[in-house]
Amino acid sequence: MTYRGWSDTANLSVVGLQWGDEGKGKIVDYLASGYDAVARFNGGSNAGHTVVIGTKKYTFHLVPSGALKGKQLLIGAGVAADPEVLAEELALLPEEARSRLLVDSRCTLVTPVDKDFDAMLEGARGTAALGTTKRGIGPSYALRALRLSPRAGDLAAGFDFAPLASFYKALSLDPARLAAWAASSHELLGRLTGDVAGRIESIADAGGSVLYEGSQGTLLDLLHGSYPYVTSTHTTASYIPAALGIPPKLAGKALGVMKCYATRVGSGPFPSEIAGESAERLRTLGNEYGATTGRPRRVGWLDLVSLKYTIRLNGVEEVAVTKLDVLSRMDDVKVCVAYKLNGSETTDFQSAMGALDQAQPVLDTPLSLRGADFEHGLPAEGKRLVSYIEDQLGVRVRFMSHGEERSKTIEL
Ligand code: GDP
Ligand code: IMO
Ligand code: MG
Repeated sequence: MTYRGWSDTANLSVVGLQWGDEGKGKIVDYLASGYDAVARFNGGSNAGHTVVIGTKKYTFHLVPSGALKGKQLLIGAGVAADPEVLAEELALLPEEARSRLLVDSRCTLVTPVDKDFDAMLEGARGTAALGTTKRGIGPSYALRALRLSPRAGDLAAGFDFAPLASFYKALSLDPARLAAWAASSHELLGRLTGDVAGRIESIADAGGSVLYEGSQGTLLDLLHGSYPYVTSTHTTASYIPAALGIPPKLAGKALGVMKCYATRVGSGPFPSEIAGESAERLRTLGNEYGATTGRPRRVGWLDLVSLKYTIRLNGVEEVAVTKLDVLSRMDDVKVCVAYKLNGSETTDFQSAMGALDQAQPVLDTPLSLRGADFEHGLPAEGKRLVSYIEDQLGVRVRFMSHGEERSKTIEL
């Protein structure tokens, strides 16, 4: 393989800087034209990535969001893949999309029993439930760590399900469906599995480039997020080479995606969360309902404390800011600039993490986007927002999104 310096790979990753649902799908679809392939590297069908073209809306859970741009579609080893969801999703796409898809043979599979397992664990937690998507993602990754779960490439070789079935039984979960599930999964995956890492290296060797599509958001990272209210995988750009099985130098740069306010689905601390009328208005204007579960998303103001942390974790130098149209219809826009904790103020998310549920937001009102019109380029209010974000966060704003439709994107 030809040697490429650290900085000259054209590969790019798109990662969420908040609690997920930042608009990654929209940005990946927008950027995909410039790449040869789009690769998912983490998470599973807990993700819901929305792409809107004209009046048509697509929600991708497993298939990479480059699907509508005719690109190679890669599902890497780090993904927990649910064959049933994959089959449903492929059925909604033109037949040729299937021929562009490659699933890594090392991908962990999510079985139907893992979904029961997920629901059982949530039930056991009672009032401390995490609010998972119940897609079986946590159990599937846990079973991978226990070396019990089947991988995509194992079905062809006749995987021995006995240890997994006895484990399920020990938890009073019914493994009876496994055999039929394995047969239909093999039928689907047999023709789709291969070596995703090898494919990425071949693309690089031929001078091409890959766009990596992150799922969830950095604050949901298993190690670095608001544990235990997190997902069960890593969500940062630094996970990409490990998850895909490629050399670190092929990971490329990271573009962070952030909403100009904040949302969170599920339980857990959310210092800049708001309630009441403003929250209702923000939720309605932003159509803040989960793309996977339909749950109303909790909403809050832009949180600079957590963003500085997630920008550092991902090594992000450039960001895409989404949902400007939503804030332009809000009267009072606030920004959380620090947390009040134990009587003093902090701007250090890392040190606040342990007591995040007690952190009170220190709010400022540095900007109003009221009435801003983004249809003919970036208006003065938008320019002020760009300067504010760049000054506060030390990043460059590269993209501004002002509507769900693909074309409502301004490149700066
Ligand atoms: P993802 O998980 O990060 O891909 O984000 P989701 O698709 O779950 O949620 C983002 C939602 O916001 C989707 O409904 C998008 O269609 C929508 N969206 C993305 N960008 C914008 C924008 O700039 N303005 C508006 N109004 N909606 C947007
Ligand atoms: P995208 O890729 C928002 C949240 C769940 C829950 C926690 C654990 O669309 O941004 P899990 O099912 O992963 O075990 O649930 O993580 N969560 C997401 N929240 N967007 C997502 O993905 C999410 N994926 C998981 O709501 O709080
Ligand atoms: Mg989503």
